[in-house]
Amino acid sequence: MPLRTIVRLGHPALRTPALPVPPERIGDPELQALIDDMIETMHESHGVGLAAPQVGEEAQVFVYQAAGPPEIPLHVVVNPMITPQARELAYDWEGCLSIPDLRGLVPRHPKVRVQGLDREGRPLDYVVSGFEARIVQHEFDHLNGIVFLDRMRDLRSLAFFDEWEAYLVGGSQPDLDETAVG
Ligand code: NI
Repeated sequence: MPLRTIVRLGHPALRTPALPVPPERIGDPELQALIDDMIETMHESHGVGLAAPQVGEEAQVFVYQAAGPPEIPLHVVVNPMITPQARELAYDWEGCLSIPDLRGLVPRHPKVRVQGLDREGRPLDYVVSGFEARIVQHEFDHLNGIVFLDRMRDLRSLAFFDEWEAYLVGGSQPDLDETAVG
């Protein structure tokens, strides 16, 4: 399967709200191919999530998976709705395949309810927390034309990857692979 090109900040697709997928079209070969391509592109790019607008498609679809720890199995979510399950916000590092090489501290809800459809059109309804909740909120934002920079409360934590690794992560941080990059 061909890899899709990941568009970068400045491409209008990243600032255009994606459209819901008509449920009867989820089984269409074009949409199934898009999902397969997104999964492969995410893996090849070493990201833990990817949203359709990042490959220039305006469909409300995102995929995510993390090798861990914590290991998160592959998820495909179509037409998602996200509902925070807690009022508080937790800060952690994020990056974005569409904003290469930058990391920043982003506040996210530590627990969210995810509703939507899977790639067979079956209803999804589950609650995620921690790292998975962060990934889901990052990818959901992409479907609404929002990137993690927009969510940062203080741009002073913004750093290039090498400098972030050298000066900011420190010994107390979890494995670098745990940083949400989608
Ligand atoms: Ni992203």
